[in-house]
Amino acid sequence: MKFYIKTFGCQMNVHDSRRIEEILTRAGHQLTADSKDAELALVNSCTIREKPWHKAISETGRLRKRKLKGQNEDLIVGLVGCVAQQEGENVFELLSHVDFVVSPDNYTHLPQIIEDIQRERKHVSVTGFTEGRPEDFLSIQSVSPYEVSAFVTIMKGCQERCRYCIVPTVRGPERHRAPEHIFEEIHHLVSLGVKEITLLGQKVNAYQVGDVTFASLLARIDQIDGLERLRFTSPHPRHMTPDVTSAFGQLRTLCESIHLPVQAGSNVTLKRMGRRYTREEYLDVVSRLRKASPKISISTDLIVGFPGETEADFKETLSLIREVGFTAAFSFKFSPRPFTQAQKMDDDVSEAEKSSRLARIHELVNAQESAFRAGLRNTVMEVLVEGKGRMPKQLSGRTRNYQIVNFVSPETIEQAAGKLVNVKITQVNPNSLEGELV
Ligand code: SAH
Ligand code: SF4
Ligand code: F3S
Repeated sequence: MKFYIKTFGCQMNVHDSRRIEEILTRAGHQLTADSKDAELALVNSCTIREKPWHKAISETGRLRKRKLKGQNEDLIVGLVGCVAQQEGENVFELLSHVDFVVSPDNYTHLPQIIEDIQRERKHVSVTGFTEGRPEDFLSIQSVSPYEVSAFVTIMKGCQERCRYCIVPTVRGPERHRAPEHIFEEIHHLVSLGVKEITLLGQKVNAYQVGDVTFASLLARIDQIDGLERLRFTSPHPRHMTPDVTSAFGQLRTLCESIHLPVQAGSNVTLKRMGRRYTREEYLDVVSRLRKASPKISISTDLIVGFPGETEADFKETLSLIREVGFTAAFSFKFSPRPFTQAQKMDDDVSEAEKSSRLARIHELVNAQESAFRAGLRNTVMEVLVEGKGRMPKQLSGRTRNYQIVNFVSPETIEQAAGKLVNVKITQVNPNSLEGELV
């Protein structure tokens, strides 16, 4: 059967969609990039805020229209991902055109479910969490040509229960993967030509199995021959212990860039969010990181308009952005979610005020980002070649601090993919850098 996947949400979902692709391909199905060709359409959904939840629902609605119009009557529609776990069988009442619902821990059952539905059209819902056995972590079997960067899941779920967050409900309790299986997967990927690994988990640096801590895991991965770069996402500030911060600058592969969600700059707001660190503790992590790796670039996530956030609280977020010097930030308006404690709080910051705070953050972060990028002009940076560039004869890749660089090369992507090259930055564009090979 030809299948199509539409993916919403975070890197976990992006990674899961690739695993689903592998599972279905091994079962004899074929991926298509065009939903019009598909006999099976999957929507991999996110529910972190109301907006992505809506997007998933309207995407299945769009597929339904095609079914109703008779363009694709036999189309099988499946809802997977975090909305699947959140809603379970309720989905069929909400969206009768959906044939099945499968949550993130249950993707290995997909081939069987699809077979059952083909045999007898009926609604199927498979949700709930697995225990975290080795086979519960879907590892990458194959990579596409020139794929030099890959994600490796080291933990699933989250039980931090930040008061605004639905992730603990939809991704389940924390389960940490056995270190041997992590090493095995990375060795396999490196043997396929992968040069860069990003370790994945909702609270990735809380990792601990027996006496293997996150810092010791990083150190052991760093020893793997043929691996060039190591990253991780997303760490929680309260687990940025000195052994983790000092790994920067010490480990050969660990790149000078980190995404470290802070959410807010005011201690009152942080406390009310249940983040379990203070502004001062966050700044201490930042200063340890800068000491270990002076050129590290730091990005973050921010929420504006959390219940009770005053103008004075918000100004502390702005001052923290300046103090840390974030070079990028994903910022969101607070959105009340089911199953969270913040849903019971008074969502008292007006929509207009939330919009205005968001705009003020954008303005500040954009200015910092531009200044940081302008400072890269005329420097020579190491680029991992990952794809074709914007223009003919150009190649493109990322620097260790995560900037995209385009440059003219005598080599084709087939010849150059996965190589590390030095590029002198000659031009700074809004979304990319241009440079020359040195
Ligand atoms: N595990 C990661 C982030 C997961 S969710 C961490 O702990 O940092 C990604 C981002 O979505 C969060 O960092 C937060 O900024 C935002 N977010 C989560 N719940 C939200 C909500 N209810 N309203 C608005 N933004 C939210
Ligand atoms: Fe959500 Fe907090 Fe867990 Fe991140 S650490 S996934 S924000 S509960
Ligand atoms: Fe969204 Fe689920 Fe990720 S809710 S942010 S896709 S863990």
